[in-house]
Amino acid sequence: MIIGIDIGSTITKAVSIENRKVLKKVKSKASDAVTSGAGALGKLMLENNINIRDIEKIIITGAGASKIKNNIFDIPTEKIDEFTAIGTGGMFQVKRDNIVITNIGTGTVLIHAKKDEITHLGGSGVGGGTILGLSKKLLQSTTFNDIMAMAKAGNIDQVDLLLEDIMDSELSFLGRDATAANFGKVLDGAKQEDFALAILNMVYQVIGMLSVFAARSKNTDSVVVTGSGSDNPIGKKVLSVITKMHGISFEFPPDADYTTAIGAGLS
Ligand SMILES: Nc1ncnc2c1ncn2[C@@H]1O[C@H](COP(=O)(O)OP(=O)(O)OP(=O)(O)O)[C@@H](O)[C@H]1O
Ligand SMILES: [Mg+2]
Repeated sequence: MIIGIDIGSTITKAVSIENRKVLKKVKSKASDAVTSGAGALGKLMLENNINIRDIEKIIITGAGASKIKNNIFDIPTEKIDEFTAIGTGGMFQVKRDNIVITNIGTGTVLIHAKKDEITHLGGSGVGGGTILGLSKKLLQSTTFNDIMAMAKAGNIDQVDLLLEDIMDSELSFLGRDATAANFGKVLDGAKQEDFALAILNMVYQVIGMLSVFAARSKNTDSVVVTGSGSDNPIGKKVLSVITKMHGISFEFPPDADYTTAIGAGLS
């Protein structure tokens, strides 16, 4: 059995893999990378009765992997770079190659993955961490459940400047309800619910447009979305509007929050 561990900037994920099948998955969170990595492995073993003798090797990746210098519990431990892990995991999940992957984690990374070549296209510091950070100040809230509940009741036209605010006609392929400037209006009466929606709208619009340009640069019309940020109903809605405008579709594989860990385990 091989264990893939992704020590992300916020959450650590561990998976067990045998014969290229993903068997078990766990998440853990600790303030430092070593505790988080060892904790995820311990949790995976204890919850699933995995014996240490059955683990052939561990492959670690993610921002925190650089902090782990030795074998974990004397099990041969290798490291793989995060971009290769995301590319390998993404191709495994959609069973295709030559794909563009947008990994929405704490920040956002864009990858082009082909069987024999995985390329880091670039990324953005706008990601899940941006949603949480802005929400802490603007909404006095730091849990995703609260943020999502507020955003569901929000009105975007209280916060964002829309085309209809500044023009009497449509512009190019943009409808009158398209965003002209995120947070470009902020009416005096804007409520926390409106800010919650505006934060999510801005983050997923930025990520969506980066994805469109990345897909076009690789001559493809679809993007695979991974990372914990892929599982967000409002984010998906924002991305679906981008699909209508730009003809690039977004695909959300199951277990997309484990893509990086799975890719590590398969490397
Ligand atoms: N439903 C959700 N929608 C959007 N973002 C989310 C959701 N749930 C968690 N997040 C955010 O996703 C981030 C964690 O995602 P993920 O686990 O993919 O990142 P990570 O691997 O720890 O970070 P990175 O890959 O950037 O180093 C956190 O910032 C968290 O707030
Ligand atoms: Mg990650």
